[in-house]
Order: sequence, then C-alpha cells, then structure tokens
Amino acid sequence: MMLRLLAPAKLNLYLRVLGKRPDGYHELETIFERLDLADTLTFEPADALSLTCSDPTLSYGEDNLVLKAARLLQREAGVVRGARIHLEKRIPVAAGLGGGSSDAAAALDGLNRLWALNLPQQRLIELAAMLGSDVPFFIAPQPFAIGLGRGERCEPLPSPLRLAHVLVVPAERLSTAEVYAGAQFPLTPPRRSLSMVAHALRNGSLRELADGLWNDLEPEAIRRCPVIATIRTHLKDLGCLGVRMSGSGSGVFGLCADTAHAHEVAARIRAMAPRASHIDIAHTEFPSSRVVTSAVP
Ligand code: C5P
Repeated sequence: MMLRLLAPAKLNLYLRVLGKRPDGYHELETIFERLDLADTLTFEPADALSLTCSDPTLSYGEDNLVLKAARLLQREAGVVRGARIHLEKRIPVAAGLGGGSSDAAAALDGLNRLWALNLPQQRLIELAAMLGSDVPFFIAPQPFAIGLGRGERCEPLPSPLRLAHVLVVPAERLSTAEVYAGAQFPLTPPRRSLSMVAHALRNGSLRELADGLWNDLEPEAIRRCPVIATIRTHLKDLGCLGVRMSGSGSGVFGLCADTAHAHEVAARIRAMAPRASHIDIAHTEFPSSRVVTSAVP
C-alpha cells in the first residue's frame, strides 16, 4: 500500500498575544486560514522509520517534526512497524506559514491510516498538541478556525469566503521562539476585536475582514527583519485590501479582491523584489480529503 497526503499551509488572519503564561508560552487569540499551497507526504510500509525530503537543507534527524510525530504515534499505539516517508516541500520554511506543523499533522493522519490504527480524530488532536501549538489546526479539515490557548484549542469558523492572497517571503527567515521572546508587552490594542473579525468572516464581508487583519508579532519581526515593512508598503501601494505578516514571520500576505487581482499584484511585486524571495499566489483551501492517492500495488 502507498499513501499520498497533502499538508496545506496556513495564514494567521488575526493574531493577538494576550500575555505570557507560567509555562513559557504566550496566550493567544488567532484566526487560522488553510491555504491551497501544500507539501505532499508519501507513506509506504517498511520495517523501520525513515524520512527523505526534496529540500536538502532540511534536517532529517530525530528533531524533524515528521519523525517526532511518527515516534509519538508508535509509542501511543504500541506499533513496532515502520514506514518509508517522503516529504515533497513546497511551503517555504520558517516563514510563519505552518509548513512544519502541517507536515507533522499529515504524518499523524497518514500513519494512523497506513498502520490501520483507527485512532479517533480527537486523540490525533491531543497528540498534535504535544508536537506544537499550530499542529492541531491541521488535523481537522476546516478552512477557517479560531485558535485559543497557545493556539492549539481550535473551533471551526464557517465562512462563505474563498480568499485570494499574494504571499511574499523574504530570503531572511525568523525563529518563532526568538520572535515571541523579543516581543514587548503590552502591545498596541488592535483596531478590531477577535469577535468582530470572526463576524466579518462569517458574514462574508471582505472589506471588514481586510480592515480587521492583525498581528501583534509584527513589530518584533520587523525589528529583526526590516524588509517585512518594505514588503508591506509595496503590497499596500499595489492595492491589496489588507496586508499582514503571518504567524511569527517572515512571510507577508496581501489580501486581494480576487484571483485576477492577486496575479496582477504578484507580477508587479516579482519585478521589484530580490530574486531570493519567494512570491506566490494562494487561496483558501476548501475542505477536501487530504488523501491524494491510496494504492495497493
Ligand atoms: O508550539 P511550538 O513548538 O510551535 O512553539 C515554538 C516556540 O514558540 C515555543 O517554544 C515558544 O517559545 C513560542 N510560542 C509561544 N507562545 C505560543 C506559541 C509558541 O511563546 N502560543
């Protein structure tokens, strides 16, 4: 049997840091969006666990979140079998787009199927939270969700919107832990509350959503990587409805009126950005099965 799964990227349309917790994490209010930009993971049965990746700069060691997820599932279910896992990387790493977290979630989901463990979704979500704050969001297939706690407590947020974005990721990437550690509190209060932005999404109001986009980690990320501010200015000047950094950066998204607008903005920003930066178009990913192929040879 061979199994192929998609691991989608995410954006944080809204990210508010409420304060530091005794466990060292920060209490958050966030809105996640699932994107149609995705990595692909393939799984094949094997005696031992092994991982290969299309990106040679990525660590294949035990610190890789995919292998951590696999080991966690082996321990949880008392599995002695292994798997050959291949990761085809498309999501820029250390960009605030959740690539590593999504790969880990896909590993839990894929190996739960490959090893026929039948663990319920709720248990996979609990295991996901042990791997990272953003991992649980990627277990359930909803396009939008509110994330609370350290981001791991997710509730689906229904919306009729399918958003179109331009993504710009500068060559310089940022460490999540460092951005959180350097951020100064209290921060400037956001223009809109979480419930106002959630309301705009539920009602399908693109303009209100664009006005409410927020990220409390932006000032610290810009201090470490000033080009983020330049990208923001360019995207705004090119007519994006709203512009924000995602997660702890360094990736920035410009919310566009529609796909045609996103193509136009992407073409113009490509002409002015340094070649090392990653420029892409992405849309909201609507719920679809993440399984691409499942074949018995
Ligand atoms: O949960 P995850 O392993 O992705 O987090 C990476 C680092 O980011 C944490 O070790 C912590 O320093 C920081 N973080 C935080 N508050 C959160 C999420 C992450 O301080 N809510």
